[in-house]
Amino acid sequence: MRHLKLSVLTLVAASLAAPVFADGHAAALEAATKARKANMSTIGYHTGILGAMAKGDTPYDAAVATAAAENLSAAASMNRIVLWIEGSEQGAVPGSRAKTEIWSDAAGFEEDAVALETAAAAMVAAAGTDLDSLRAAMGAVGAACGDCHKAYRGPSN
Ligand code: HEC
Repeated sequence: MRHLKLSVLTLVAASLAAPVFADGHAAALEAATKARKANMSTIGYHTGILGAMAKGDTPYDAAVATAAAENLSAAASMNRIVLWIEGSEQGAVPGSRAKTEIWSDAAGFEEDAVALETAAAAMVAAAGTDLDSLRAAMGAVGAACGDCHKAYRGPSN
């Protein structure tokens, strides 16, 4: 299991010579929140391409499907330590919808994240094969999104 705690001091020391700790701390938490939301948007973008093909909304294209699956897999495999920093939960950082359970139940969160990594890796193998294979791999990808959002994503801000 990967540890989700990161010394914010390390980040601050690396990025800013912040004389006021409190400001640097808040900035580091906001930066991490923005970065992980961008990571999720990237995941959502590529899932959308695959989902549209699975539904028949866009024509199946093996090269495009493979590209989307590879990017989805890469985004899903990013190291979570620097993205999900304790203290950046909903209410603490503007725009965050991260539930505190991400840290209090770190093993469960990691399990859901690995479920997406696994499903995305399977999609890389399936997406370029044919439309039926893509469709068959889509279920596990969608389930991974839904399971994690249900448990660890808070309501709209
Ligand atoms: C391991 C948990 C986890 C998995 C798996 C996961 N998400 Fe998320 N996702 C979250 C959390 C938590 C947030 C809220 C983050 C925040 O607001 O700081 C989020 C936010 C988002 C957002 C909003 C980003 C923004 O700009 O606010 C999108 C879009 C998204 N997820 C799409 C997806 C899709 C599509 C999948 C599946 C392919 C997926 N997610 C899988 C946990 C997960």
